[in-house]
Amino acid sequence: MNILLLSAEVTPFAKAGGLGDVAAFLPKAWEELGHTPIVFVPKYGNIDTQKYGIEPTNIVFSVPISSWVEYGRLWRGTLPDSNVPVYFIQNQDYFDRQGIYGNPDGFTDNDRRFLFFTRAVFEAAKALNFKPDIVHAHDNHTAFAMALLKSQYRLDPFFAKAAGVFTIHNMAYQGMYDAKRAMEFTGFGMKSFYTGSWFEQYGAVNSMKTGIMFADKITTVSPTYAQEIRWAKNGEGLQQFLNERGGDLVGVLNGVDYTEWDPETDAAIYNTYTKETLTSKEINKRKYLYECGVPESELGQNIPLVGMVTRLTDQKGIELLEQTIENFLSYGLMRFCIIGSGERKYEDFLRYLARKFPRRALIQIGYNTNQSHRIIAASDFLVVPSRFEPCGLTQMYALKYGTIPIVRATGGLADTVQEFNPSTLKGNGFLFANYQRREFSAAVRRALSVYGVKPYWDALRTNAMECDYSAVRSGKSYIEVFRWALDNIR
Ligand code: ADP
Ligand code: GLC
Repeated sequence: MNILLLSAEVTPFAKAGGLGDVAAFLPKAWEELGHTPIVFVPKYGNIDTQKYGIEPTNIVFSVPISSWVEYGRLWRGTLPDSNVPVYFIQNQDYFDRQGIYGNPDGFTDNDRRFLFFTRAVFEAAKALNFKPDIVHAHDNHTAFAMALLKSQYRLDPFFAKAAGVFTIHNMAYQGMYDAKRAMEFTGFGMKSFYTGSWFEQYGAVNSMKTGIMFADKITTVSPTYAQEIRWAKNGEGLQQFLNERGGDLVGVLNGVDYTEWDPETDAAIYNTYTKETLTSKEINKRKYLYECGVPESELGQNIPLVGMVTRLTDQKGIELLEQTIENFLSYGLMRFCIIGSGERKYEDFLRYLARKFPRRALIQIGYNTNQSHRIIAASDFLVVPSRFEPCGLTQMYALKYGTIPIVRATGGLADTVQEFNPSTLKGNGFLFANYQRREFSAAVRRALSVYGVKPYWDALRTNAMECDYSAVRSGKSYIEVFRWALDNIR
């Protein structure tokens, strides 16, 4: 199957969160399964072309935009540990600047940047003579690909037989654009924009809705989230349309690229280990604590280390930490370490925590991939107390590293973590149901109570490390969705 994947993020070249990881592991899995994927991503100014061996091609192509034409140039690289080609679309006006989205406020021309990219991908595929069976778009930034496939490119023999699959990673970001700008820019014109049209929501263009309405099939990143988004609480205003398209919507659980995330081979951590050599995990903890400034005399203390690797946004449940963690820290029941960046108010809270508990709260504000690996290897527990979580990847990484997840039972967290039962020794972590301080604290207390206690601790860590959430399993499920889409092109 020829699969064209387009995404605003692709790890390791350009990543803000889990979207980048998924856009990289899926094509690698498809290649392993004998398919032919090709990946497109914008050539952002801060992509390190030298480090990744990304080279310019001599393919320059024109992109029809409304009544005028713009240009793009292709650069070519490969996904690490694979032969999957990645094409970077260069356009200086739109992408030659630092950052992907221009967060926290977003670049003011994000509408044009991503609409240009989406349209350019179709022209680039033609320039490369890559005739896709599937066009697979991800999240709001590339959602318009679904509409373009069914309109501008519907009669183009190059794309006429292709099916469009749209994957929702997060309903909280919908790509709402000014209608006049966006409709003109995409060539649909204002005639296609009216109350109730497939592009419209609350008087603006809604890219997420556009993707949902035009796609042949829609997926989201876990079975539980696929159900949750049909309800007002998680549908973020689009639940009606998700229900309308309910027969074409399925949840496919994300996976993990174990070539990147495996404690046995991970080059970023201090000491590799397996489930048979878990004492080496302890070395990771000690070295990490030491590097964070914990004095040598305190390294032998048998205090559990609770970690977190996260964007600092409302989604991630930082408020629950604000309400509970000081209690745990002041009684010396845990050490807490985190690497995170995002909203100012949460960063400020973490700085406060570091000042108050200098040797117990180990705070890194920022974004650093190597450091995220070290935290996951060093920690005994990983907390993910999200308000909502479409899938979540860090809890799956943690499991592989024998780091026990403590999570809220929502979205993909509910699909990947099962409560540990001391009487049966089954389960791989700890969960709480409601977004409430008391429930969160109780789950943390349950977790801490088995820390180091045999035989519970051994069974729990073995159960965790034996979980298999491989990317290939996830990739296979997508292939089934693609077949389903091809059999039912609308
Ligand atoms: P989301 O996509 O909502 O941020 P996920 O759990 O799906 O949540 O994915 C987050 C990804 O981003 C993971 O690969 C995680 O390791 C990474 N990540 C998040 N914050 C940081 C950070 N501060 N430094 C390094 N990696 C981070
Ligand atoms: C989104 C979600 C996260 C998911 C990731 C990859 O960013 O917030 O839960 O794991 O996409 O699908």
